Amino acid sequence: MKEWTRDERYKVLNDPEELRDLHERTTHSPYRQRCHIQPVTGLSSDPNGFALHRGTWHLCYQWCPWGAVHGLKYWYHVTSPDLIHWRNAGIGLAPDRDYDNRGTHSGSAISVGDKLYYFYTGNHRDPDWTRTPYTCAAVLNAGGKLEKLPEPLFGPRPDYSEHQRDPKVVWNGEKQKFYIFLGAQTADGRGCVLIYESPEPLQGWRFAGELKVPGYERFGGMWECPYIVNLSGTDVLIFSPQYTKLPGRGESTNHNVYLLGHMDYDSLTFTPEGPYRFLDYGFDFYAAQGAANVPGGDRAILIAWIGLPDNHYPTADEDADWEGSMSLPRQLRVRDGKLVQTPLEGIETLREAELTPEGTLPECCELELTAPGGDFELNLFTRPDGSGGLRMRCDAEKKVCAFDKSGLDLRFNQNVGEALDMPLETPLKSLRIFIDRCSTEIFANGGEATFTAHTYPTEREHGYTVSNGAGVRLWRLGASVVDDFVV
Ligand code: FRU
Repeated sequence: MKEWTRDERYKVLNDPEELRDLHERTTHSPYRQRCHIQPVTGLSSDPNGFALHRGTWHLCYQWCPWGAVHGLKYWYHVTSPDLIHWRNAGIGLAPDRDYDNRGTHSGSAISVGDKLYYFYTGNHRDPDWTRTPYTCAAVLNAGGKLEKLPEPLFGPRPDYSEHQRDPKVVWNGEKQKFYIFLGAQTADGRGCVLIYESPEPLQGWRFAGELKVPGYERFGGMWECPYIVNLSGTDVLIFSPQYTKLPGRGESTNHNVYLLGHMDYDSLTFTPEGPYRFLDYGFDFYAAQGAANVPGGDRAILIAWIGLPDNHYPTADEDADWEGSMSLPRQLRVRDGKLVQTPLEGIETLREAELTPEGTLPECCELELTAPGGDFELNLFTRPDGSGGLRMRCDAEKKVCAFDKSGLDLRFNQNVGEALDMPLETPLKSLRIFIDRCSTEIFANGGEATFTAHTYPTEREHGYTVSNGAGVRLWRLGASVVDDFVV
């Protein structure tokens, strides 16, 4: 993998043409996704600014144009009529102001009336590299471009560390106020969320206080990308605690968790009802963000970065040096006091043809498995002789699905661990699996638990094997993302 100097990582993009050749080379990768949002060049990480606005779904992602490296971050903008088919819309936000001179970092969006408002972190650094994070805003203009406000909305709290970022904006009808949930770190290195409030989106913001989450006063060193939503009367707080290892998660120090509970905006307290849980049990799932303005009130639509901050992936070693993918959008609901995550309704429209399941996986497909009961075994991406692959072993008694990816030809991030468990609350009955060229997403038991990982099968790894007696249906999926050069 290339060693990047700071100057190379923070190079400013002056002219889209500088990327044309790189994009061309990127599209030749055998691992370009067919139905997932992926970087036009370089690296994609967090989903940002996700909202439904006047019939169009808008999403941006953190984007570093030059290669698979975390450097100068832009927002890259994509749009969709249905959350399934996505088009590239070009740069959303560029780090072109003094207050965001070293990156337009993560944030959210909200549609109000005929306006789509964006909130993001301006990552300012002085020449001596001292960091000051600003909370900034932009508005979608009539031409479909994000227009920044001339000045940030507010600067950092002096009594917290330099880690204050990723504004998630919500509207609270009862209080008639907007709230920003900002990921932060206390001066003594504890992860937390800071709350700001305002009656209007673009002015009048005041610091309301630190969110109290009883029992979570010492839980990781920074809470990145907070997201909160009320689903059928239950508040769901999702965040990505980092700088800590958590039980059952190998050597990883980056996690994406959720709490179900109650958010009290008077006392700024989120009272958890039950323990934290991992949003996804796979190797690569982080910085998840739900869309704003989803009609209804009983479901959220969530997209995550298939990746982790300290990891790198095999495509970083390709000539075009790129990596990253968004997850498929998924639906979240709270049923019987539990979070249930299911594939997006309508995703079935991607099914091009149902195939006879003969033990071979097309490069972009959906597998539906019914478990016969008892212990269960599934191996994806096996070699022609049935060996290798991503292995899943479900122990019926313990109700645990153990994953091991060490049998794949392309191994990566071995230092973080190659084996992880996905616990279940009920015996394994069903799996819905979505495979694209460099990702695998698994939904178990109708959404009780999920598993997402980057997978890079080689030419000889297109088989699968499954326990006798399992019901198998297999569909080839059509392409739904347009991989064109728009910058
Ligand atoms: C999470 C994160 C955010 C930050 C962004 C920068 O992956 O570290 O906290 O805003 O990435 O790209």
